[in-house]
Amino acid sequence: MVKITDSVSWVGKIDWELRKFHGDEYSTHRGSSYNAYLVRDTKTVLIDTVWKPFAEEFLDRLSRFIDLSEIDGIVANHGEIDHSGALPALMERIPNTPIYCTANGVKSLTGHYHKDWNFQIVKTGDKLKLGKKELIFIEAPMLHWPDSMMCYLTGDNILFSNDAFGQHYASEFLFNDRVDQNELFTEALKYYANILTPFSPLVAKKIEEVLSFNLPVSMICPSHGVIWRENPSQIVEKYLEWAKDYQEDRITIVYDTMWEGTRQLAEAIAEGVRETAPQTEVKLYNLSKTDKNDVIAEVFRSKGILAGSPTINRGILTSIAAFFEEVKGLGMKKKKAASFGCYGWSGESVKILNDQLRASGFEVVHEGFKSLWEPDDKILDRARQYGKEVVKQLI
Ligand code: FEO
Repeated sequence: MVKITDSVSWVGKIDWELRKFHGDEYSTHRGSSYNAYLVRDTKTVLIDTVWKPFAEEFLDRLSRFIDLSEIDGIVANHGEIDHSGALPALMERIPNTPIYCTANGVKSLTGHYHKDWNFQIVKTGDKLKLGKKELIFIEAPMLHWPDSMMCYLTGDNILFSNDAFGQHYASEFLFNDRVDQNELFTEALKYYANILTPFSPLVAKKIEEVLSFNLPVSMICPSHGVIWRENPSQIVEKYLEWAKDYQEDRITIVYDTMWEGTRQLAEAIAEGVRETAPQTEVKLYNLSKTDKNDVIAEVFRSKGILAGSPTINRGILTSIAAFFEEVKGLGMKKKKAASFGCYGWSGESVKILNDQLRASGFEVVHEGFKSLWEPDDKILDRARQYGKEVVKQLI
């Protein structure tokens, strides 16, 4: 338990061990937290719970803090299991307690748990009086699921934003002003790039809607990572930037290689890029050796990408194929791309890479660069020239 204000306490769980989230899809090098909050006024309300493996621990600690029967209501901002996982165990102890959620929240929670709980459907602008203070609900569909919502506590001026503004970042410090700022923003950007990018148009619209309410916000309490206590508008401004087809002066080269040929092409192309555009940061990632979520964050920051794979069995290497499967769903916009790769006889990889790039929403600016067999000095020189030319179209 950590006291946040006189009436709000953090009652969540810090998951220091977590290294993969959403099954094995998202890497969490710095762990995460499942933030739940207890609001005490005349009425007591619990906002969200924790992931199921920590349900009993959560309830044990919560019941050392208050008698669970004192909970007058539960706000389920989002039905995903990382936040609702302790609900079944909690509802066994306080079975008739109202659960405030959106209409889609009822579908999500019944879909997961198949229980006929006392759901109270709320919509944007609905209020729950707690005593002197009240909670105002704000639906936030697709931030991160159709059921998502936020709520705002008057008096304390706290926005409980659920997944939005979160980070997969474990810290005992709990507040943004106490943690390493590089780590915090690295994780916040990675989280946005890998989770929220598909919903960028909705992110910008929702933020503008919330700002139009003119509610003072002294703190943003997300459901993962640290609380934005110092200058909470800084993460709101970052989200507005990230939501609008964000890019820096960067090129990311992603590739995989069998016998080093495509790697040599990647490095020669990078040299060419650097010679033509020395101000542009160029980074190379072998996808079979690098965490794909970290690379996605790099691609998110880039103006353009170069994708490379040798041809194998008329196809491309699996690490790069899997990467595109993920990138396709993210729907990044206004990024340019080109491809390259070695081959021995049939040489389909560059065409497949171009198709994958287009299917992922990139503008392919060149037909690509192919090398028959291993590149010699002449081919590497041509690859360097390709880098020099193609970068002019990428940035
Ligand atoms: Fe943190 Fe969409 O759950």
